[in-house]
Amino acid sequence: MSVEILNLINGAWVKGSGEAIESRDPANGDLIGTAYQSTNDDVERALAAASAAFPAWKATPQPKRAEIIYRSGELFRKYKEDIAQLMSREMGKPIAEARGDVQEGVDMAYYIAAEGRRAWGYTVPSELPNKRMYVERVPLGVCALITPWNFPIAIPTWKSYPALVMGNTIVFKPAEDTPLLANRFAEIMIEAGVPEGVFNVIHGRGGPISDALLTDDRVAMVSFTGSSATGAEIARKVAPLHKRYSMEMGGKNPVIVMPDANMELALDAVLWCAFGTTGQRCTACSRLILVDPVGDEFVAELKKRTEALVLGHGADPKTQVASLINEKAMNKVLDYIRIGQEEDKAQMLCGGTRATEGDLAKGFFVKPTLFDGVKQGMRIEQEEIFGPVLSIIRVKDYDEAVRVANGVKYGLSAAIFSQDVNVVNRFQRDCASGLCYINAGTTGAEVSTPFGGVKATGNGHREGGPTVIEAYSELRGVFIDYSGTLQKAQIDNN
Ligand code: UN1
Repeated sequence: MSVEILNLINGAWVKGSGEAIESRDPANGDLIGTAYQSTNDDVERALAAASAAFPAWKATPQPKRAEIIYRSGELFRKYKEDIAQLMSREMGKPIAEARGDVQEGVDMAYYIAAEGRRAWGYTVPSELPNKRMYVERVPLGVCALITPWNFPIAIPTWKSYPALVMGNTIVFKPAEDTPLLANRFAEIMIEAGVPEGVFNVIHGRGGPISDALLTDDRVAMVSFTGSSATGAEIARKVAPLHKRYSMEMGGKNPVIVMPDANMELALDAVLWCAFGTTGQRCTACSRLILVDPVGDEFVAELKKRTEALVLGHGADPKTQVASLINEKAMNKVLDYIRIGQEEDKAQMLCGGTRATEGDLAKGFFVKPTLFDGVKQGMRIEQEEIFGPVLSIIRVKDYDEAVRVANGVKYGLSAAIFSQDVNVVNRFQRDCASGLCYINAGTTGAEVSTPFGGVKATGNGHREGGPTVIEAYSELRGVFIDYSGTLQKAQIDNN
């Protein structure tokens, strides 16, 4: 059943003013719903609503704001199955993973709701008598949240909850591939009691409205998850305007397998973190670094398991690898497979084509693909593919493995498999990434640890964990002099 997908502005559902944008099930083309491209006028209305709602929301006690977030977590629990089923159709991911995506929203709600009862300020001793100093956190204002389709519930919650708990209001621009899921989130926020104007949703592609949204004076902060190229464009627009921006971007995440690793564990983990979510995670492993003499035997076993992965519709519980999100994404993956085949000395071991057997022909399925003999510097080794393609790089020792692991422009997640306490400790020191996994794959970060990366992956902010609060609040130092006399600061008293 297809539905009309509306914008949410000031508590009212209204149709975007631009052209229709269909949301379709990527696995079979079924129409899920129709959203409408927002125009600059729609953006204006959303910004006006968010900015008008800001003073009252800011004045609402932080624990009260947190209660609304907590209730939304309860509602996500209540509607989990329903939303997961929708996700396996609108975004396409396998149903168990879709449940996990909603669960991440539940976890984030509970986590951030608890942050609502923490003070998050501190007192500092003054150099003068009869003077008190403290630091408090104040909200920024209107936050523009731009989210991707690959975690259509989890990532919007990562941004919205900390923004809301700190007293900011929101204009949320979800990915145009998953508008119905974004509206399910919005409905939950309304049911949880978020006041009108505090949480607004505008649908459509970002390009046509990016200036109206990003450069407006009322927008204090932009939070974005997506490609490094789009992130750079956003930064170019907002940095000269002195806005804050928190960026979560690409990855080219390595797994290193040392000779002393538990090979069975490493195989399981690589298979899951490379091909889970069809490789469409920014944390997905796309480079497998095998340290000599780990080699042919490991690769043969990995190939066997890769070829056995079950492709299908996400709603089918047997499915392990689902459709890519859309045709453009599929063509990008196929292009990289072609590039990989043309590149020097890389051998394609399996996959390499679109899967078209039976119903798969209706979707954007690509067979899980392994390239062996990949060398550092090849494009398939350097560039983010965001699909089920894994490059295997063979190296002689730990030092070379780390050089290869760190030798890309991204730095989100990195993993090593080894039983040697010295090696794993060296790796957590040496890896150039925001997330470091020891004897586990590159995916599966938990909400209570800071999530983000270095180099082209991020700009220093983190999502999740206690420090996410920093991205969504400003520090204010307060100085109270109760001496009744003019006390000059030490520097003015020399
Ligand atoms: C993403 O792909 O953008 O760590 C997020 C993980 C998930 C989140 C991935 N918790 O794999």
